[in-house]
Amino acid sequence: MSRRNLLLGAGALFTLPTERARAPERASLREAAARSGRRFGAAARAEQIAAEPDLAEALLVECDALTPEISMKWDAIEPEPGRRDFSRSDALLRFATENGRALHGHTLIWHRSIPPWAEAALAEGAGWAPVAAHFEAVLGRYGNEIATWDVVNEPIDTGHRMDGLRDGTFLRAFGEGYIERAFHEARAHAPGAVLFLNEYGLDYDIPVERDRRYLFLKLVERLRQAGAPLGGIGLQGHLDLRKGPFSEPLFAGFLRDLSGFGLEIHITELDVREHDLTAPPLVRDRLVAEIAKRYLDVALDCAAVRAVSTWGLSTRHSWLAIEPEDLDFYWRLVGGQGKGPGFNRGLPYDSDMRPAPMREAILAAFERRPLGF
Ligand code: XIL
Repeated sequence: MSRRNLLLGAGALFTLPTERARAPERASLREAAARSGRRFGAAARAEQIAAEPDLAEALLVECDALTPEISMKWDAIEPEPGRRDFSRSDALLRFATENGRALHGHTLIWHRSIPPWAEAALAEGAGWAPVAAHFEAVLGRYGNEIATWDVVNEPIDTGHRMDGLRDGTFLRAFGEGYIERAFHEARAHAPGAVLFLNEYGLDYDIPVERDRRYLFLKLVERLRQAGAPLGGIGLQGHLDLRKGPFSEPLFAGFLRDLSGFGLEIHITELDVREHDLTAPPLVRDRLVAEIAKRYLDVALDCAAVRAVSTWGLSTRHSWLAIEPEDLDFYWRLVGGQGKGPGFNRGLPYDSDMRPAPMREAILAAFERRPLGF
């Protein structure tokens, strides 16, 4: 993709006669997604967009929608009770709307983003009021402009209870009804939004993820039966080359079961954690692209899957930081030679903002499933 086309933005390409006369460029991810009747997006941070023009350009070329990676979480919004900071979310929303892009609201309830003061208050019996105030503040501000919301994130955890609910602050404070209650609370403040339940660890053919799939389906079933205003399912899709094996038929069966609820499904946080950091970069890129393609081929065979987002666009910002213990292992194996493994490579763009093989994999997966297949 040329820099000129990056700057023009994908939409403009087709409106300029001089451009039209040229040999057609490869499609952007959002164009390929549109031809598949889907949307493509990525998680992003306003500060990074402001500081890095190449990131801003690539996001606009490739994405229909952006997900706030951090800024809309409860601890980011309300670090102290009642003192709310919307500046970074406002900036991201401004960037998106000024460029005709959508935001996906992420996330109202997540056990890893409860501010410490709220954690203490909920544990001490403050009741639902802090949760209601948080929903009211966030949805009151953005509920009309943002059409899709992750209301509850990661409620499943195996090994504690028969129903598979995570043994955490919300469950302890409110009992198992808290998920349903959260959906009703969100609906009250955002009457027109599509409300999502978002979950990880539903991908692989390994015992813990088989359990998680079963427990997740049961949870969705209970929420539907109880009449919770659930409109969508988010499958995070954090793939992991250390986990394996991935089974196409098993994942397809899970998507079939999920489709039975009549909800739209989004792949919300696709990326790939690597296994062998000592392999040559080309091999690492191939392994990342291969699993992304296998996963998306199954996902896009399912008509209920309406959107795909990656968790970041460029590996420059991957949340999958390479940990010190990974580095020790790496240096031992390579005998202290070379430059080090660099960044985790499991996203569509490399750290120099060049398209990586995973981008081709996503593009090919969309192209394999044109609209009306
Ligand atoms: C992650 C962010 O990427 C990190 O920067 C932050 O420190 C922790 O949260 N599942 C989710 C996302 O739903 O919100 C998480 O994002 C990644 C896992």
